[in-house]
Amino acid sequence: MAERLDPWGSGKIEDYENLFKEFGIESFEKFRNKLSENRYIRRRITFGHRDFAKIMNSIENKKPFAMMTGLMPSGKFHFGHKMVADQIVFYQKLGAEIFLCSADLEAYLVRGIPLETARETTIEEYLTNYLALGLKEKNLNFWFQSDYKVPYYRLRDMLSRKVTFNELSGIYGELTTGKIFSTMTQAADILHPQLKEFGGPRPVVVPVGVDQDPHLRLTRDLATRFQNEFKFITPASTYHKFMEGLQGGKMSSSDPNSYIALTEKPEDARKKIMSAKTGGRATIAEQKGKGGIPEECTVYDFFLYHLVDDDKELEKIYGDCKAGKQVCGECKKICADMVMKFLEEHQKKREKVGEIAKNILGK
Ligand code: TRP
Ligand code: SF4
Repeated sequence: MAERLDPWGSGKIEDYENLFKEFGIESFEKFRNKLSENRYIRRRITFGHRDFAKIMNSIENKKPFAMMTGLMPSGKFHFGHKMVADQIVFYQKLGAEIFLCSADLEAYLVRGIPLETARETTIEEYLTNYLALGLKEKNLNFWFQSDYKVPYYRLRDMLSRKVTFNELSGIYGELTTGKIFSTMTQAADILHPQLKEFGGPRPVVVPVGVDQDPHLRLTRDLATRFQNEFKFITPASTYHKFMEGLQGGKMSSSDPNSYIALTEKPEDARKKIMSAKTGGRATIAEQKGKGGIPEECTVYDFFLYHLVDDDKELEKIYGDCKAGKQVCGECKKICADMVMKFLEEHQKKREKVGEIAKNILGK
């Protein structure tokens, strides 16, 4: 029996290759060279897709396309979320119209987070960080699932006509009524940009963590089933790997030791890096003999995902670790310094984007 991907679960994905076989996700490799200025793509962190050829085509021929994604405002915005934000900014620069939602209703329905709390978190954590990371107001549609326009809700309700309960159980496993609503809302998130009220049919790409793929499978089917009514173009998606939590295991908003928030005090961030799980050996002598294992190192992941853009520089870190030329204490200090510098600069940028946030929310 195939493993199920669970969008609300806490499972770690052990085998990304397997996702190609089990679920029909395709390798991103063939687009990698064309989009290699993007660090996640270049480093195969964005590893898979569905239907991305139509997005590549829009990019190459300068045809209109949109990017849609969302995050649940369930706590602090951390470096795992930054991956999504960076990709949004990337597609915006490529000319995509951006549709970005705060999944506050989903946070309420599946996590029990009060809507007021979710709204505050959305503004203070999510929106402000998106803007400080480079998101621009131009070509941006930002909304709360709980507070948006009528045609969106009409679409959500209409979509439910062509989904059976058995089908949902097959995709998601155990369901609650709240989860059922969340699946329909997410399908509306993804499809509504193609309603005439929001710009009409055009290619849409949805960059997400691979745990969200069940929603995409459902939504892509729905796009076909409602072909006659709405002329939807089947949405495309890309999938990125997750960062591991700093202590190993999942990086999760509910465990502050597993992540570094973008609003974290630089000094606290330093401490977290200094006590992070590494791929180092038990003793320095052993490390010098056998070398470290960067593939199992959460500190290395920070270099790889976020801190070191220059591939040569990254290769040196990797090589020195493997060859036992670097020890973890030193390496963690370098990483901590870089994280602190990033946070200081980022937090200054946060102070400057307040006005833009107000404009966006006032719309
Ligand atoms: N379910 C997503 C999460 O858990 C958030 C989300 C809501 C989303 N609507 C979306 C993601 C549409 C991608 C596309 O974070
Ligand atoms: Fe990780 Fe650096 Fe130690 Fe290698 S030397 S295992 S990259 S902390």
